[in-house]
Amino acid sequence: MDTPFSTLIRTASHEQHTEAETSSFMGDLLGGRLAVDAYARYTEQLWFVYRALEEGAEVLREDPVAGPFIQPELFRTAALEQDLAHLRGPGWRAGLSPLPATAAYAERVAECARDWPAGYVAHHYTRYLGDLSGGQIIRDKAERTWGFDRKGDGVRFYVFDEISNPAAFKRAYRELLDGVNADDLEKQRIVDECKRAFDFNSAVFHQLGGEFPLSA
Ligand code: HEM
Repeated sequence: MDTPFSTLIRTASHEQHTEAETSSFMGDLLGGRLAVDAYARYTEQLWFVYRALEEGAEVLREDPVAGPFIQPELFRTAALEQDLAHLRGPGWRAGLSPLPATAAYAERVAECARDWPAGYVAHHYTRYLGDLSGGQIIRDKAERTWGFDRKGDGVRFYVFDEISNPAAFKRAYRELLDGVNADDLEKQRIVDECKRAFDFNSAVFHQLGGEFPLSA
């Protein structure tokens, strides 16, 4: 395959990215039209997804395919828990339940972590590289809309304290993707799983849009 894998996966998921980016929930969130409650509900959904990603990471550290991707400076669960404590109070965990789309998403991530490390790579890429990219736009908007301290409680999820140069980190990450320990067929399967990962995100946005139906 001549095209570097990092280019292939980005190009192949471009359409799904546009779809996720232009969902009405995201549009309303970025347009400053939603109350902080909607942002908190979204943050809760992320917690379920990152818990699955990062519990999976523990087991995959030594895996020949997924292992190189596991980098603790990416871990987001602790930051999400700080944000949730700020947004919902110290009892944030009580009664917290995932939307059906979130539950399906987290279950698929856990399943990949258990049974298919290359599939886990697809989920890892879709979330973490996204957070390092467009996530920064969401942080900026959230700070302005709801008055969180810059890079403070409420938006810590978007702040990668241990990554001083995100552009360099993303370059190195793309090199990891280019060298992924998988043959062409398996790479194609990773691309397909990446599209699925985007679809899960769109489904979560869709259900959040149902709960906060502003731009109907
Ligand atoms: C309104 C929401 C979003 C905005 C504004 C946004 C914006 C962006 C931008 C500007 C980039 C390019 C950054 C660069 O070239 O370094 C990017 C990349 C990316 N985004 Fe998003 N994004 C959004 C939502 C999402 C969602 C929901 C996902 C998936 C969960 C996602 C996953 C990604 C990924 C994986 C990349 C890296 C592409 C690559 O270089 O391989 N984004 N996003």
